[in-house]
Amino acid sequence: MKPFFYVANWKMAMNLHGVQAFIDAVRHDQTLVEPSASTIILCPAFTQISLVAAALKDTAIECGGQTCSPYASGAYTGQVSAGMLAESGCAYCIIGHSERRALAETDTDIAAQYDQLVNKKMTPIICVGETANEREAQKTTAVLEQQLLPLVAAYKNNPADRLLIAYEPVWAIGSGTTPTPQELADVFAWLKGFVAKNLDASRTFLLYGGSVDEQNAAAIKGVPGISGLLIGGASLEFKKFKNLVV
Ligand code: PGA
Repeated sequence: MKPFFYVANWKMAMNLHGVQAFIDAVRHDQTLVEPSASTIILCPAFTQISLVAAALKDTAIECGGQTCSPYASGAYTGQVSAGMLAESGCAYCIIGHSERRALAETDTDIAAQYDQLVNKKMTPIICVGETANEREAQKTTAVLEQQLLPLVAAYKNNPADRLLIAYEPVWAIGSGTTPTPQELADVFAWLKGFVAKNLDASRTFLLYGGSVDEQNAAAIKGVPGISGLLIGGASLEFKKFKNLVV
């Protein structure tokens, strides 16, 4: 079976009580803890990573960061390096999320973050996606190309063992609206072509994110080219998340 990735992006939405309840539910339920063709990656806030990683260390569940510093170490108050994430138990890290780009993270920063992660043997989960205006102007693939090209350059210099690219239309995140299966099929066909031309298709996996929930997950999973889901709101409650995965 081809691998499928479920990435839970908990953003700044979980307090310690919620994290503990999620861990307890995972332990109690047992469905997600065994190795399978699916990889489950939980991305808690920085302060919660060590707790989650330690509590689930003996399971197949992985941990990821939600961003990382573009620098290796030094006087960067408030930042967390890829090395620190690795030490905390992360093998993955989301970079380029639109909520980070909105806080002025640039394509150059994101390419530098990619480098830091690869230097620490971590798997980058790179987010790309167009805004509603860009979509209306039919600029979706132009925007994706613009966001991906700096990463192609970074990849050529410093190839990752494995790369996850998440297509997350900005207008779909947290809105309850998703692209139609046909719209997704078109974008993923384009992404597949882009990967074949510019990256290594055998090491690159394409994910979708933006308002994925229990109702729409099955249809989205059926779109050709989709090898995973990046899930925000619907990943906060164990039961909802589990229903998406199984
Ligand atoms: P959402 O968030 O599932 O709540 O839309 C997805 C994301 O921002 O990664």
